[in-house]
Amino acid sequence: MATILKADKILREFKIGDGNTVTALKDVCVDIEEGQLTILRGRSGSGKTTLINILGALDKPTDGEVVFDGKDITKLSEKKRDDLRRHDMAFVFQSVALIASMTAYENVEFGLRLAGVPANEREQRAKEALTRVGLEKRMYHRPGEMSGGEQQRVAIARAIAHRPKIVFADEPTAELDTVTSLHVVKLFKELVAEKGMTIIMTTHDPSMMDIADKVYTLEDGEIVGE
Ligand SMILES: Nc1ncnc2c1ncn2[C@@H]1O[C@H](COP(=O)(O)OP(=O)(O)O)[C@@H](O)[C@H]1O
Ligand SMILES: [Mg+2]
Repeated sequence: MATILKADKILREFKIGDGNTVTALKDVCVDIEEGQLTILRGRSGSGKTTLINILGALDKPTDGEVVFDGKDITKLSEKKRDDLRRHDMAFVFQSVALIASMTAYENVEFGLRLAGVPANEREQRAKEALTRVGLEKRMYHRPGEMSGGEQQRVAIARAIAHRPKIVFADEPTAELDTVTSLHVVKLFKELVAEKGMTIIMTTHDPSMMDIADKVYTLEDGEIVGE
C-alpha cells in the first residue's frame, strides 16, 4: 500500500477574541493509504473537522507538514491549493449542499461543469455516478423530493463523478438515521473496493468502526488510538 496523504506533527492553534489561543490539534500524525477507507473518530470538539480541513487543503496548520502525492501542500500558494482541491479532491459535508432548484442529475452535472469537465463527457459521467449510488430512478427529482439519505447519495455521486484521487467526508451521516448511515458507509466501502478510491471520513458514531480499513481516534486534539 502506498501512502497518498501524510500529516506530520500537526499543530493547529486558533486565536480567540480575548487574546488567548485554543489548541485544536497537537502533535497529530496520520498516514492515509491509497485505496482505503480511513475513519477519523472522536467526540464533538475533539478536532475532527479541524484535521480533515487541514488534510483537504481547506485550512493550514500552525505547524507541521501535510504531504499529498509527494508535495508539502502547506507550502503551496493559494492558487495551487485551489487547483489541487478542484482537480484531485472531492468533499462531502454533513449538511448536504445541493442546489434546491436543480434535479439530482443537474446538481451532479453542474459540479462537473465547475470542475472543467468537457460538455460531451458530463452527461455520461453524471448518470454513471448517480446509478452507482443507486439513484437511477431519482435522477430528475429535486432535493426537496428526496429523503435525507437520498440527498446525501446525490452529494456522494457529485463527489465521485469528479474522479478525484481522494474524497473527504466530514460527518456525512450526522443527520441520517442509523440504518441510512450504515448504507452510506457501506457505499463508501464498496467504492473503495471496486474503484480503488481513497476515502477519509469523520464520525462520532462508534457503530461504523469495523467497516473501515483504518481508524484514528482523536481526543482533545490528539490521536489516542490507531
Ligand atoms: N475557528 C475556530 N476558532 C476557535 N476555535 C476553534 C475554531 N475551530 C475549531 N475550534 C476549536 O477547536 C476544537 C476542535 O473543533 P472541531 O475540529 O470542530 O471538532 P469536531 O469536528 O471534532 O467537533 C474545539 O475546541 C473548537 O472549539
Ligand atoms: Mg466537526
